[in-house]
This record gives sequence, C-alpha cells and structure tokens, in this order.
Amino acid sequence: MSREARPLWHGRFAEPPAEALTAFTNSLPFDRRLAADDLAGSRAHVAMLARVGLMTDEEAAVVTGALERVEREMAEGTFAFVPTDEDIHTAIERRVTDLAGPAGAKLHTGRSRNDQVALDLRLYVRREGRELVRRVHELQEVLVGRAAEVGDAYLPGYTHLQRAQPVLLAHHLLAHFWAFARDVDRWVDALRRLDVSPLGAGALAGSSLPLDPDHVAAALGFGRRFENSLDAVSDRDFVAEAVFVATLTQIHLSRLGEEIVLWSTEEFGFVRLADAYSTGSSMLPQKKNPDIAELARGSAGRLIGDLAGLLATLKGLPLSYNRDLQGDKEPLFDALDVCGRALPAMAGLLATAEFDTERMQAAADGAASAATDLAERLVQQGVPFREAHATVGALVRQAYERGVALEELVRVEPTLGVEALELLEPGVAVQQRTTPGGGGPLPVQHQLDAARARLAEQAAWLDPET
Ligand code: ARG
Repeated sequence: MSREARPLWHGRFAEPPAEALTAFTNSLPFDRRLAADDLAGSRAHVAMLARVGLMTDEEAAVVTGALERVEREMAEGTFAFVPTDEDIHTAIERRVTDLAGPAGAKLHTGRSRNDQVALDLRLYVRREGRELVRRVHELQEVLVGRAAEVGDAYLPGYTHLQRAQPVLLAHHLLAHFWAFARDVDRWVDALRRLDVSPLGAGALAGSSLPLDPDHVAAALGFGRRFENSLDAVSDRDFVAEAVFVATLTQIHLSRLGEEIVLWSTEEFGFVRLADAYSTGSSMLPQKKNPDIAELARGSAGRLIGDLAGLLATLKGLPLSYNRDLQGDKEPLFDALDVCGRALPAMAGLLATAEFDTERMQAAADGAASAATDLAERLVQQGVPFREAHATVGALVRQAYERGVALEELVRVEPTLGVEALELLEPGVAVQQRTTPGGGGPLPVQHQLDAARARLAEQAAWLDPET
C-alpha cells in the first residue's frame, strides 16, 4: 500500500479501503468544524502524556508546536487534506505526524477516536450552547425593551384565536420572554450535566498506561472526569439535550413567528415590519412578506426532524461506541445553526417592527371584551359566578340576535344597570386585570421588573467576570 493510500489502521490490513467505503463512511465534510475542539483536546492530552512520563518534555514541545502549526494552517485555509483523511481526527493526527515525526506518532498514545470525538463534541456544545444562550438573551432584551416602550397600549387577548379579554401589549410580548427564559434555564442545566470530560476512556475500557484523566479534565475546564469508560464513549445524552433545547427554542420562535404572520396581515393590521426585515415578491409588486417569521415557523419542523432522527439513531445501540454515533453530528450542527440564525433575525424583526396600537385597541374595545368583567361585577354583588355567567351570556346572545348594542341591554338589566356601563368604556376592561401575573398595567409593571431582574441573572451567567 502506498503511504498516501494508507489509513491510520493500515497495520492490520493488506488491502486499501474501497472507494465506496470511503465515500460512505467519511465524515470529514461535516466534522471539519470540530477542528478547533480537536486541537484543544490534543494539546491537553499531550500535556498530560508529558506529565505522566509517556512523552518527554522535548517530544511534547515538538508535538505542541505541530498542533499550533496545524491550527494556523486551518485558520489560513492552507491545511491540505488527503483522500485517506476519513475524519477531522485522522486528518490532524496525520499532519502532526508528518510535521513532528516520531514524536508525532506518540500523539494518539492511550487515546482512541472514541473518547476523542466524545470530547470534541462536548467542547463544541459547551461553546455553541453558550453562544445560543447569548442570542436568546439578546432576543429577550428586545422583548423587554419593546414591552417597556409600548406602555399601556393594549390588544385583545385570544383563546382559540377568538377575542377573549384585553391585555396589555407589553403583557403579550413578555409572555414570549418567559418562554425564552425557560430555554436559557434548560441550556444552563444541560451544560451543567455536559461538564464531564470523557478523555482517558480510550476505545471503551481505559488503559494499561498511567493516564491522568483528571488532569486533562481540569486542563480543559471541565468540572469532572467520567466515572465509567463505557458510558464515557457511549453517552450522547448531551447531544440529544442540546438538540432538544434548540428545538424547543425554535418552537417558541415558531409560535412567535405565527403571531407575526397573523398580525402583519391586512386583516389584523397590528404590526408593520421594517423593510430591512421583510421580503418582496418577484411577481406581485405590492407585496411585503414576513419571510423571517415564516422560516422561523417552518424551521421548527426541520429541528423536530433532527431531534427525532438523532433519538432514533441512539435508541438501539449497545454499549459502547458504534459507528452509528457518527450520525450525531449533522442533526446537532443543523439544529444549532438554524436556531442560531433564526434568533438574531427574529430579534431584528421585533426591534424594528412598528406596532399599530390604535388598531389593536380598536379590536380590543368591542363591548363583548368586557363580558367577564360584567359577570365579575355581579359576583362582587354576591351573585354566584355560574349565575352571573349565565346572565351576561344571555345579554350577549340577545345583543347578537337582536342586533342591538350590548350597552343598551346592560343599561336596562336590573342586576347591572348604568353603573356597569363604565366597564364597557374603551380601555377600561384591561385596567380590571389587577391580580399578580395578570395582563393589566399594575401587574405588568411588576412583571417588567421581574423580567429585568431575570435578564441581569442571565447576563451574570453569560459574563461571570462583569
Ligand atoms: N468519525 C467518527 C465519529 O464521528 C470518529 C470515531 C471513529 N471511531 C471508530 N472506532 N471508528 O464518530
């Protein structure tokens, strides 16, 4: 076998790999993006090998120098891949061995690609997860900023997409804020569980060599090392969790996106999107479309597919490493990429959108919006709620059937009377939402404070230094 055509495991093999095998099993096209993590892992591994005497300090210096050179080549785009580089790990090791000679050939001492790839992926998710939290946080800042800015503007709150009770626009925006806050929580929690270094597990069983996995774990900033080598190379829970958290975030973006789509229709007319965050039609000159919101909504389906595919890959695997696990990367990268692009697009869309609060308020001021308040007025007079509900329900039905204004019927309803008419005045119903966490001005003011406190907590987690 020519040296070029030799895979890293050539010793056991008399024949070079078939082309179809290479084409099918090669993961380089997608795992190249683990290069930085692979190099970081190798640096820590080499330092550990020198510490325990499996490499001399001189050898370690040569290999570390080669790793730095590879890093530069990767950054400059001059790194030359060869056909036998079946993944990023083999590519880097081959180049390090070319550069560092016999010392380079010691790089893989006590290590397998099985613990190596598990490590790389943890480093990747740790970094990218943080970045996603940052983006979620920025979107939440926009939501809080807009909520503060729109003051006491209100709109109909809906159930079943039917007008139900008016709420402040700020309340509506902040509802989305809390969903994203839970996503941040989920990331923090998932990253805490991910904080385990698998390096030192070897292929599956550890090693006869005096490796020091605790040292590597600490050098790479992990809280601890693995407890069980089989689990260390098999575990992809952290990948599944990351994809799930991204998927749920995307679902939150999708639901927000659906509202933007509705609100920006002429029928609703609650929001106008900025040109920079809208798209036009190639044929219909008058169109201005909410494509960001639609793609945010549509992409949720794609992420659900990523998650379902990954879970299906994992479900039947025996311990420990199986090549099926190579299939963890594409769904992971895809989910984090798509969600990572959707977040700033939606943040920009929301930051620049113009709310038509007059239209919102006009939609909320229909007398029927106050029906619950009328019933509650009766409750305050001692009427059992069921009875009050029936009384007001009957008034609303008569109003529709007879085509008269609800006001007229309330005025002559002996249990309600003229004093109740104030409840039907524009803007009064939303003022009635006074309970904690409710949609009126008083509780929303408290909620805004809570949301700001929450942002401060998140910011402290993102930048512990400041
Ligand atoms: N490219 C492989 C993956 O992503 C690396 C591990 C290969 N290990 C093995 N024993 N073939 O999972």
